[in-house]
Amino acid sequence: MAPALRDRPRRRPLRGIAVAIALGVVLGGCGRQSIVSPRSPQTHDIRTLWWWMLGVGGIVFLGAIVMLTMAYLRRDVRGLPFIGDREPIAQGLVVMFGIAIPLVVLVALFGVSDVYLIDSTSPPDPRTTAMTVEVIGHQWWWEVHYRGTGAVTANEIHIPVETRVNVVATSADVIHSFWVPQLARKIDEVPGRQNRVLLYADRPGSYRGQCAEFCGAQHAHMALYVIAQPMAQFRAWLAAMSAPARNPSGGAAAIGRRLFEADQCASCHQIRGVTAPVTVGPDLTHLATRSSLAAATIPNRPSYLERWIANPQSIKPGDRMPDLGLPRWQISDIVAYLDSLR
Ligand code: CUA
Repeated sequence: MAPALRDRPRRRPLRGIAVAIALGVVLGGCGRQSIVSPRSPQTHDIRTLWWWMLGVGGIVFLGAIVMLTMAYLRRDVRGLPFIGDREPIAQGLVVMFGIAIPLVVLVALFGVSDVYLIDSTSPPDPRTTAMTVEVIGHQWWWEVHYRGTGAVTANEIHIPVETRVNVVATSADVIHSFWVPQLARKIDEVPGRQNRVLLYADRPGSYRGQCAEFCGAQHAHMALYVIAQPMAQFRAWLAAMSAPARNPSGGAAAIGRRLFEADQCASCHQIRGVTAPVTVGPDLTHLATRSSLAAATIPNRPSYLERWIANPQSIKPGDRMPDLGLPRWQISDIVAYLDSLR
């Protein structure tokens, strides 16, 4: 063996697995996108069901392990299970643990999940909700409309806290699934169909959501935020979102606006009051108020926005946003304009 290879530190696969499990527990259990920290009555029920399924599944698994161990310890020298004159007992055990108990457990869990839980997670009666929000899935971002208002946004849904919101979900291209684990169940977004789900938050906060149906190369980068806020704050936000874009008074932002209209930006993105309606890419009317870009892939800061416009494919390969080959000064003026859209 070459000395260089001998000198290499020994790999410790078990330590790597332990670290991965610990990270999974920390990030999955306590993170912002978790089914075990519910913030609505329906997700409380989902969490209860999840713990029951884990508990019952765990007991069944342990039972199987115990019986396998017993069978192993009682095998004869030729490696065959030793049964002898205890055959009727063994057959009884097989019938009980192999057929009867699994049947009872599965029927009970099916009953709880598909009969009891369906009540708390079924689509809301629109007469019992305060408002309707339309969420349209695109490869790979979310278009959001507030019914009855002119407000359009993307990848960020504001809702009033402790208020029942009727979400109408559909898709503009392939099947997606709208999922904000702390607030609601998953709901499929199917082209040509309108599915509905209740969105409700029992306390203010920012809740991360994620597309939960594989929809192409950037499925993993199709996330969103639901921001629950007190009713007065929400009303102010909605009024601001319903307004058209403000015009920059001058400087780099004013040049940026002219470049935005003249370059190909306006053929995909709408800025209400400035460009024609189009939904190839997200509405940018109040882009600067959002916390993230590219469906929660990168933070919404001018330096990231510059990188995104200069080379979107390096951040989200396969995305429909092309590299327009704009010179650096043009990108910086366009960013100055977009950063003024509050
Ligand atoms: Cu959209 Cu996965």
